[in-house]
Amino acid sequence: MSDSKTKKIKKIAVLTSGGDSPGMNCAIRAIVRNSLKNDIKIYGIKRGYSGLIENEILELNSSSVGNILQKGGTFLQSSRSAKFLEKKYRKEAVENLYARNIDALIVIGGDGSFNGALALKSEFDLPIIGIPGTIDNDILNTQYTIGFDTAVNTAISAVDKIRDTAHSFERNFLVEVMGRNSSAIAIKVGICTGAENILLPNEDLNLEKIANDIKRGIRRGKRSSIIIVAEGTTPGRSYEIAQKLEEGFELSSKVCVLGHIQRGGSPTASDRFIATKMGVEAVNSLVNEEYGKVTCWNQSKIEMRDIEECAQKADINLVTDKDLAELLSI
Ligand code: F6P
Repeated sequence: MSDSKTKKIKKIAVLTSGGDSPGMNCAIRAIVRNSLKNDIKIYGIKRGYSGLIENEILELNSSSVGNILQKGGTFLQSSRSAKFLEKKYRKEAVENLYARNIDALIVIGGDGSFNGALALKSEFDLPIIGIPGTIDNDILNTQYTIGFDTAVNTAISAVDKIRDTAHSFERNFLVEVMGRNSSAIAIKVGICTGAENILLPNEDLNLEKIANDIKRGIRRGKRSSIIIVAEGTTPGRSYEIAQKLEEGFELSSKVCVLGHIQRGGSPTASDRFIATKMGVEAVNSLVNEEYGKVTCWNQSKIEMRDIEECAQKADINLVTDKDLAELLSI
């Protein structure tokens, strides 16, 4: 390939990688349509980096992305590829692009996917653009990632329903939300549902405080409570917490693990809008020969940042927001 700094882009490929998120389809649609408008051929890679290694690449046209805007998931499908961590497979992957004269790649995904893109940039000088897509909203230097708003709204609507039965039966509930290392969903859902407590992934559990908070609520007439638990590295950990509250503090709780329901569903207006803007700007950036960037969303607009600054997790936290939740849950 010629020097990526001076190359005029004629063929772009796009893939979605890692945990899928609602709104990814909107970004793909915008990429396809804006590429075609710029007389650039556009290719979709199936199943993320796995499909790139296995040469599952198809040319897309305008109607390939018709009627997908409102659909959750990603029509290109996704994967977490262990093989792609090895350079020999990355070489195979990039050769599949060269074989079709594809000269740039757009990667929609989280920090792990950006690390893969960064490797392609540094090892093969491949022009790449990253688009932040994960329900976790935990990528450094962007205030927003595609799918977060939909996931939060899905979780809020579930917690509202749980509130109804919690109140009717005078019960405590532990509602577990997604977020392996990310607090973002837990905190936003906790604040928006008036949760009595929020347990973050990386903090030490203070069961005595949790129990005292609930008992204080009961003394002043509260008949039910909701605790939002971020799943952390052990999805389902709420069952163990419930057991400890029962054994140590005679507090019985019901558990509801929301799980992958948070990853699906039709994207909200915010996710559709931001994903569309990101998709358009990803192509514009390649047309303008500005490579190695990420379409960050800061101060309500796109800000192109170097991928090196974004290939990391950020726990956009939110300690102050957790304080806010506590302040209001007394
Ligand atoms: O994509 C992010 C995420 O949904 C996290 O919130 C969650 O911890 C993880 O992915 C679950 O991954 P998997 O779908 O591979 O179980």
